[in-house]
Amino acid sequence: MKIAIGSDHAGFELKEYIKQLLAGGDYDITDYGTHSPQSVDYPDYGFKVAQVVASGDADRGILVCGTGIGMSIVANKVKGVRAALAFDIYTAVQSRAHLDANILVLAERVTGKGLAEEIVRSWLSAEFEGGRHSSRIAKIEAFEKNRDR
Ligand code: RB5
Repeated sequence: MKIAIGSDHAGFELKEYIKQLLAGGDYDITDYGTHSPQSVDYPDYGFKVAQVVASGDADRGILVCGTGIGMSIVANKVKGVRAALAFDIYTAVQSRAHLDANILVLAERVTGKGLAEEIVRSWLSAEFEGGRHSSRIAKIEAFEKNRDR
């Protein structure tokens, strides 16, 4: 599975931690920055990862900022992206099972490393259930296709 990962400075440390966790496994991870704890703007990294996922160059994305909110707002502006901000394992798994979320967003200033690890692992292994959930997602996609603003 190809994973695009990115963060701002407030998510940098957790991004690096997640990268280490997933290294050497079944994942092909590309880091789109930021590459230091120096202050940057989350939209620069959120849009990049979201566009890589939307284009199909990565199967999934992981974004981290301080609260997770900025990255969620940014990523969900990109057509084809369903970004889920998760603070617990249940919502992370549901975001895959019911919503086929293709980007997981984490909040470094809220979620500790241990929980973040469990969230990432559960999210990566959870499958979309399809069925009735597919027609709901089709409605989102129809809206995206026809929208002019
Ligand atoms: C950066 O200070 C912070 O505002 C950002 O990481 C994020 O929390 C925004 O949602």
